[in-house]
Amino acid sequence: MRISSSFLVFWVLATGSALVLSGCRPLPPSKPASEWTPQEARGAAVFQAKCARCHYPTTTHPLHGPGLQALTKVKAMPSGAPPTDERLTDVILHGRSMMPPTELTNTELADLLAYLHTL
Ligand code: HEC
Repeated sequence: MRISSSFLVFWVLATGSALVLSGCRPLPPSKPASEWTPQEARGAAVFQAKCARCHYPTTTHPLHGPGLQALTKVKAMPSGAPPTDERLTDVILHGRSMMPPTELTNTELADLLAYLHTL
């Protein structure tokens, strides 16, 4: 009993530090498509049309821009700015360095922001 529990502690510590060392912190999972509200589903369609060629939504692996998994659940976006709706709106409508501006109607923007919160 004693041996097995200290082995368990060792295993947990070893696995935990391996994750930290590899820089791979587990992020909260994205909301599954089956649970999207109608607005989130419309936002997903906007994302597919306007963003998907440069961003993966459900991993942090980069495509042309950073992967957006858990975008609104982390403290800071890749630029260091907090992922507030104001900041996201600014990046989306005006672009940022290598990211071009995207033209959206107010409804498309609101739907897209709702979808980004599911990631
Ligand atoms: C042509 C490719 C391209 C398209 C299309 C594009 N992006 Fe980006 N995006 C980028 C690049 C490149 C960056 C990194 C910019 C930088 O250097 O800070 C980026 C950065 C971002 C960031 C991080 C901003 C930060 O402050 O770190 C967010 C969020 C983002 N994009 C969301 C979107 C959304 C939502 C859409 C769709 C409306 C979109 N992008 C469309 C290329 C693109």
